[in-house]
Amino acid sequence: MFPAQRPRRLRRTPAIRRLVAETSLDPSDLVAPLFVAEGLSEPQAILSLPGHVQHTLDSLRDEVKALLATGVTSVILFGVPLSKDELGSEAWSGDGIAQVAIRSLKDAFGDEVVVMADLCVDEYTTHGHCGVVRSDGSVDNDATLELYAKVALAQVEAGADVVAPSGMMDGQVGAIRSALEDHGYQETIILAYAAKYASGLYGPFREAVGVEIVGGGNRKGYQQDSSNRREALLEARADVEQGADMVMVKPAMTYLDIVSDLKFALDVPVAAYHVSGEYAMVKAAAERGWIDATAVALEQLTAVRRAGADFVLTYFARELAEELSR
Ligand code: PBG
Repeated sequence: MFPAQRPRRLRRTPAIRRLVAETSLDPSDLVAPLFVAEGLSEPQAILSLPGHVQHTLDSLRDEVKALLATGVTSVILFGVPLSKDELGSEAWSGDGIAQVAIRSLKDAFGDEVVVMADLCVDEYTTHGHCGVVRSDGSVDNDATLELYAKVALAQVEAGADVVAPSGMMDGQVGAIRSALEDHGYQETIILAYAAKYASGLYGPFREAVGVEIVGGGNRKGYQQDSSNRREALLEARADVEQGADMVMVKPAMTYLDIVSDLKFALDVPVAAYHVSGEYAMVKAAAERGWIDATAVALEQLTAVRRAGADFVLTYFARELAEELSR
């Protein structure tokens, strides 16, 4: 008796495997996170993110040019300011580093590139929190919303195609959407970091942007608890109702169930952020010769797509796009 099903038939050659592949990974599905620092004369290596740098305005343009050549057409920008203050005013200053960088990229590449701007204040505040800190050390949700509205307007005035609020304040999407509407910005896309978990995997990022949370604190008072699944749906539905065009899950590998839930429950594009710690773990193991970084990256990002992400923010964007076009 032979088995009726012989799945191995469909695995025999690369061409057959490609024919029946359920999931694809294309450079246009990848979004490259990029850091731009104020006052640098040379790009500065980020030790915790091998292969990544804090860019100067010039090196940022070169990097985007190289990304476009490999088929990666979207980037998300993070600014690293020279000076910080209690409220993070460089985040909404018209000549803040992020705004200057957005303008420079849109001048150089126009609509060839999708420029996303991370919308938060933690890189700009002396205490490293994502909002206004009260005297007892907690973050004031509603006072923070006013700051986010100002940041959104500054980023959009500079030319951002997409603003991506990442602070996990309740009502942040609504506050930003109404500020944009009031100022006649109807075309701006909001990508909500809808389900952002309080994760240990953001460590290398904080080194990359020079953020240290005051007093060894954490973000558990506003980011999601990793024990919770249904809460992500509540967050994401609220964001869509408030005017988010797309929602994001973050981190990626440890939250694939959440990606899958949002994919099936909502009708908007779902993104996932393969974060700094996820990248750094693969790179560190590969440096020791324990794993093949490219193979693992391909496998992980394919898994994120398979779980339901329409696109993925990843520090592997450029190297994978180069690999995919080989
Ligand atoms: C907040 C923000 C963070 C990341 C993206 N936006 C840091 C945080 O919430 O502490 C983390 C991204 C990563 O780890 O790659 N501005």
